[in-house]
Amino acid sequence: MARKKVLFVCLGNICRSPLAEAIFKTRISEKKLIHLVDADSCGTANYHVGDLPDKRTIANARKNGIVISHRGRQISQQDLVYYDFIVAMDQSNYQNILRLESSEIYAHKVALMRSFDSVRDRDDVPDPYYGDEQNFQEVFEILDRSINSFIRFLESEHLKV
Ligand code: 4NP
Repeated sequence: MARKKVLFVCLGNICRSPLAEAIFKTRISEKKLIHLVDADSCGTANYHVGDLPDKRTIANARKNGIVISHRGRQISQQDLVYYDFIVAMDQSNYQNILRLESSEIYAHKVALMRSFDSVRDRDDVPDPYYGDEQNFQEVFEILDRSINSFIRFLESEHLKV
């Protein structure tokens, strides 16, 4: 079976989506599913192309036992074609993904991260960029919860061997 390809998308690709990618890869590895799934992340904006994740994201991830390794990149139309699942952090990212050329053909691949959240009080993963450590920790907890149920969804629907 071909590996499923997952892309996490936020605005800058230095806070939320590289953390989502790193949590996802860690949990997938813990579940010994690494041979079945590939993951990457990107931003809808180009402000941080080539940059490491935000220092606060790296520090918060480390505190929670997650190692991040990523360089910022901007989403392109090719990502719509290549990836099987494109997971947007908020509704603005979601709308921007659907503004890419020919997105109507690929719209079924695009989902909101929090559509997988079991305790969803709102639809967006809040942007922590102008926030403090408490905001970064809230993002971590939302992502960890949402990604666990996203992986359970993948296992039940898409990773059958
Ligand atoms: P992210 O957060 O979308 O979670 O990576 C942001 C990072 C940078 C900016 C905005 C949001 N920025 O405006 O530079």
